[in-house]
Amino acid sequence: MRISGAPVALVPTMGALHRGHVALVDAARSRGCQVVVSIFVNPTQFGPNEDLDAYPRREAADVAMLEAAGAALLWAPDVATMYPQDFATSISVGGVSERWDGAARPGHFAGVATVVTKLFQQVKPDIAFFGEKDFQQLAVIRRFVADLDIDIEIIGVPTQRDDDGLALSSRNAYLSPEERVTARTLPRALGEAAAAIGRGGDVAAALAAATARLAEAGFDPIDYVALVDAATLEPVDRLDGPARLIAAAKLGGTRLIDNLAVEPD
Ligand code: PAJ
Repeated sequence: MRISGAPVALVPTMGALHRGHVALVDAARSRGCQVVVSIFVNPTQFGPNEDLDAYPRREAADVAMLEAAGAALLWAPDVATMYPQDFATSISVGGVSERWDGAARPGHFAGVATVVTKLFQQVKPDIAFFGEKDFQQLAVIRRFVADLDIDIEIIGVPTQRDDDGLALSSRNAYLSPEERVTARTLPRALGEAAAAIGRGGDVAAALAAATARLAEAGFDPIDYVALVDAATLEPVDRLDGPARLIAAAKLGGTRLIDNLAVEPD
């Protein structure tokens, strides 16, 4: 692949692929890249009471989807390959990884940063693609890539959604049919809050309204609904630069996250 001259792209995933993952492959191909996709359900980014064992695994369907999408190579290492018994290193990112999912899921972003660094070293891509769906994750990756002088271009790809607005996620498979209907409240509540803030409405009031709407729909707990600086992920109380509305909440046993850009009208 390297001899052919076209840039090598990496799309890291945990499998159970959907249109959101395919959008990353498409984005890479549209830049003329040869696309390597990794599938690895990374144990170190799951907390002790999280869904590591239940996480959907569908390798045959994933392979078919990647072939149809035109990916060139699948890298699907096993746990022993990634974390041999004497493995002892962790990459801990400060600042941008501390709040929000970093607070709700201790150790999560260290697990992500460590595994993504390993995947970068293994595949040695020129460019790597990540979804805006996991907005804080994208910011954390941009941070350590800059901090550690990693010579890989990082591209963010817009969130792919179902017809009713729910962001596609491998975890949506956990939702019951009733929960799946309720789940659309998350993008709707965020959309309304983003519009209100964009019109110049009071930020705290818009966040409170979105939180109340989620609680009413049955989301519990609501980990956060926040307006943040799009680069630093620090909370902002007024719209005076690129901002993002971010949220995470559980519906039944399923933790859903979503985010939207907020722009002044
Ligand atoms: P996973 O959840 O499988 O997501 C793989 C990539 O697909 C991530 O960059 C994610 O942001 C992107 N993605 C997921 N749903 C999307 C959607 N609806 N629209 C656009 N992109 C979407 O994120 C991970 O895996 C892991 O943390 C990983 C980076 C692979 C490290 O283990």
